[in-house]
Amino acid sequence: MRQLEGKICVVTGGAGSIGRATASLFAAQGAKVMLVDLAEAELNSATADLDNDNISCVVADVTDARSVRDAVEATTTRWGRIDVLFSNAGNFGVVRPIADYPEDVFDAVYAVHVKGAFLLCKYAVPQMNDGGSIVINSSVAATRGDPGVYAYITAKHAQVGLMRCLSKELAPRRIRVNTIHPGPIDNGFQFAVEKDLQNIIGRDGTEFFNELIPLGRHGRPDEIARSVLFLASDQSSFTTGSMLMADGGMSA
Ligand SMILES: NC(=O)c1ccc[n+]([C@@H]2O[C@H](COP(=O)([O-])OP(=O)(O)OC[C@H]3O[C@@H](n4cnc5c(N)ncnc54)[C@H](O)[C@@H]3O)[C@@H](O)[C@H]2O)c1
Repeated sequence: MRQLEGKICVVTGGAGSIGRATASLFAAQGAKVMLVDLAEAELNSATADLDNDNISCVVADVTDARSVRDAVEATTTRWGRIDVLFSNAGNFGVVRPIADYPEDVFDAVYAVHVKGAFLLCKYAVPQMNDGGSIVINSSVAATRGDPGVYAYITAKHAQVGLMRCLSKELAPRRIRVNTIHPGPIDNGFQFAVEKDLQNIIGRDGTEFFNELIPLGRHGRPDEIARSVLFLASDQSSFTTGSMLMADGGMSA
C-alpha cells in the first residue's frame, strides 16, 4: 500500500529543490499534489518534468492573502478537500552585522517563512479533512544562533511557535502539525548562502558547514523528502507538535 494513496497535498515552494523532490515522492506514493510557487517559469518546468497526471500547479505568492486563498481554492476546485500541507517556500536574506541589517530584507524573509506559513494554514485548514497532516519546513537554523543571520534564523525559530500553537488547536480534529529541520542541503539555495559566507569567513563555505555536521556531508533533497513523507503519512500517526531534525546531527 502506498503511503499517501488518494491524499490531496499542497506543496509551497514547489518549484524549488526540496519542494520538487517532495512532490515527486508524494506522487509516487499515490498523492495528488498541487505545486505552489511564485516563480512561474520554474513552476511550469517542475510540473512538466514531474510529468504526472497527479501533479498540478498554481502560481501564488505565499505572502499575499488573496493569492494564498486562490491557490487553496484552485486545489479544492480540482480535487476536493485537502489532506496534507507542506509549507516549504523560502528565501534567505543576507548576512550582515545587526547595525547594517536592512529592514526591508528582514521584512521580506519574515513575510515568506512566517506570514507565508500562517496564511497557508489560515486559508487551508478549514478545507482540510480531519486526520490530515501539516508539515512546516523550518531548518537546523531554528536550533542555533549565528552572527549576522538575523532574519532567516529568527524566522525559522518563529515557525516552531506557529507549529506548536497549531498542533494544539488542531489536535481535536486529529490534524497533526510538525516542523522538519533540514541541515545544509546540497542545492542552489545553500550554495548561495555559502558563497556569501565565504566572503565573510575567508574560507570555503561548504567545507566550513561539513565540519559542523557530524555525518560530515550535506544532505540531499530526496533525504528531506523522505522525512517529510514520514510526517505527512500515517507512519507518524502519534507525532504532533514535534521538531524532526534531518540535519546529519548538526544540532546534537
Ligand atoms: N537548502 C538548504 O540547505 C535548506 C536547509 C534548511 C532548510 N531549508 C528550507 O527549505 C525550504 C526550501 O528551500 P530549497 O532549499 O528547496 O530552496 P529553493 O530556493 O530551491 O526553493 C524555495 C522555493 O520557494 C519559492 N518562493 C520564495 N518566495 C516565495 C513566495 N513569496 N511565494 C511562493 N513561493 C516562494 C521560490 O521560488 C523557490 O522555488 C526553505 O523554506 C528553506 O528555508 C533549506
